[in-house]
Amino acid sequence: MQKTGVLFVCLGNICRSPTAHGVFLHKLAQEPQLAQWLEVDSAGTAAYHVGNPPDPRSTEVALRRGYDLSPLRARAVSTQDFERYRYILAMDRQNYANLKAICPSHYEGHLGMFLDFAGLHGAEVPDPYYTHGDRGFEEVLDLVEAAADGLLEHLRQELLR
Ligand code: 4NP
Repeated sequence: MQKTGVLFVCLGNICRSPTAHGVFLHKLAQEPQLAQWLEVDSAGTAAYHVGNPPDPRSTEVALRRGYDLSPLRARAVSTQDFERYRYILAMDRQNYANLKAICPSHYEGHLGMFLDFAGLHGAEVPDPYYTHGDRGFEEVLDLVEAAADGLLEHLRQELLR
């Protein structure tokens, strides 16, 4: 069976989507049965930070909760991602719209909002980049952890039934 691709997408790929990527990989490492069927990555709809590690504020806040974001590097989303990833999950509506605009008409995967998997339909992971202190980054983690759990449960149902 081919692996199922999961791609987390925000604007810069240095705050929200690498947080989702790192948290999801960490949780998945505890589920090798499921992990063997998944390919996970993250990307940004903007290319400003390509090649950069996650924002130090994201890395720090994540590390305090046991998630290591340090190996991740930013990349920009490409139209080829629609061939490779069956779940393409946007952190906010603007990035969802950016993805929708480049989504091939024959795409058969799920292009959606990440927080739908936390039961928060249509809700956004707020952009923490211009916020002061850690609060915005803590909020990102709270939301990401909830949606990662929901997504894992969804994928267990789909792939391990
Ligand atoms: P992200 O946050 O989309 O969660 O990675 C941002 C990172 C950088 C910028 C904006 C948002 N920026 O304007 O450079």
